[in-house]
Amino acid sequence: VTEAVPVIAIDGPSASGKGTVAACVAAALGWHYLDSGALYRLTALAARRAGVAWDDESGVAAVAARLDVVFDGESIRLAGEEVGEAIRTEEMSSGASKVAALPAVRAALLFRQRLFRRAPGLVGDGRDMGSVVFPDAKTKVFLTASVEIRAERRYKQLIGKGIEATIQPILQDLRERDERDSQRSVAPLRQSDDAELLDTSALTIDEAVAKVLAWAAS
Ligand code: DC
Repeated sequence: VTEAVPVIAIDGPSASGKGTVAACVAAALGWHYLDSGALYRLTALAARRAGVAWDDESGVAAVAARLDVVFDGESIRLAGEEVGEAIRTEEMSSGASKVAALPAVRAALLFRQRLFRRAPGLVGDGRDMGSVVFPDAKTKVFLTASVEIRAERRYKQLIGKGIEATIQPILQDLRERDERDSQRSVAPLRQSDDAELLDTSALTIDEAVAKVLAWAAS
């Protein structure tokens, strides 16, 4: 009998630091990493390029089903073109949140996400890793931080990249996205009963990574 490939599911709101923590946990264990948010961002970008409106459910689902994407370390290529930066703009963040609310789009991306589960293990980062995509994950973590702390982290990240920013609109945008991601009817963002709560408001990245690794080892 072959044992199922182990999964660590890390879910939580935007700008909680879960992407960084998940990638560090994967690197520490030598496991694969799935940035599921990138798939929703890629879908929003591919739809825009195909002239499909973000609220056209069947049109966007068709785009999601035939996404031609290659993940290769830091690089993400869509139809052969590097789009690692193009999917991180505020516009695509908003588009991703919109297309992610469409049930047919989520269904179209489900199988693709499960393909990332390969030996020796997978760390999945998103909103519904533990609840929908990998319900049998061995370790489930709901990683969050207060919206003020998240806005501050996003602000520092932008400033660090030399991008002009102010806290207030960032805070506003995070609140709107939290609302949309947690109020939608399919796979809403919420902590499931079997997930460990990790509030990183007062933790460093290393402390958060150590905590996840400890849960995974127990
Ligand atoms: O994690 P992120 O900011 O890159 O995610 C982009 C959007 O995709 C976000 O609004 C929520 C959505 N998303 C989702 O609905 N389910 C996932 N598993 C991952 C992301």
